[in-house]
Amino acid sequence: MKSFSILGISGSLRPDSTNTIILSAFKGLLPADTHFQIFQGLDEIPHFSPGLDDTEAVIRFKKAIQQADGVIICTPEYAFGVPGTLKNALDWTVATGDLNDKPVSAISASPLNTGGDKALASLLLTLTALGTRRNDHSSLSIPNIKHKIGPDKTVSDQETLLALKGQCDNLMTIIAS
Ligand SMILES: Cc1cc2nc3c(=O)[nH]c(=O)nc-3n(C[C@H](O)[C@H](O)[C@H](O)COP(=O)(O)O)c2cc1C
Repeated sequence: MKSFSILGISGSLRPDSTNTIILSAFKGLLPADTHFQIFQGLDEIPHFSPGLDDTEAVIRFKKAIQQADGVIICTPEYAFGVPGTLKNALDWTVATGDLNDKPVSAISASPLNTGGDKALASLLLTLTALGTRRNDHSSLSIPNIKHKIGPDKTVSDQETLLALKGQCDNLMTIIAS
């Protein structure tokens, strides 16, 4: 049976990012033979403007997406929106269609009880514009995230782990379909 490769993209650049911690949890939730890596270097991607040539970081970002069977994006909300770094990286893929028909799971996490829902809604609009393959279960908003991470910097809340497993299973089903 074919083993699959999943790419994680965190919308946060913070070393102790709760969103990156959530992404790290997927390693233990995906099927055992699935390759999983979190993209490093989103902050090396220059400001997008149409007509600019792809830099080394942009080429690396696009290649990581192209080589993945599916993508999981986990992002905080800044000022009711998607962090500029993440939106900027996604804008680079518009012309080349790297995310077109790519199965994607979109997650937002926030210390607030709104769960970053406005950033998630905005991200989903962008992912629709990019032609990603999703269904009604391909997104998740996680509120009060600080209470769901243990002192060992892993997701400790069982309900959240179950919801993340649901994202895994749904993504793998979309990939296989
Ligand atoms: C400038 C700034 C703006 C923020 N705006 C929002 C916001 O609109 N909604 C929200 O839920 N959290 C907001 N937050 C809080 C972030 O959700 C919080 O810092 C979160 O932990 C960042 O995610 P991370 O842990 O993955 O880095 C903001 C934080 C900063 C620093």
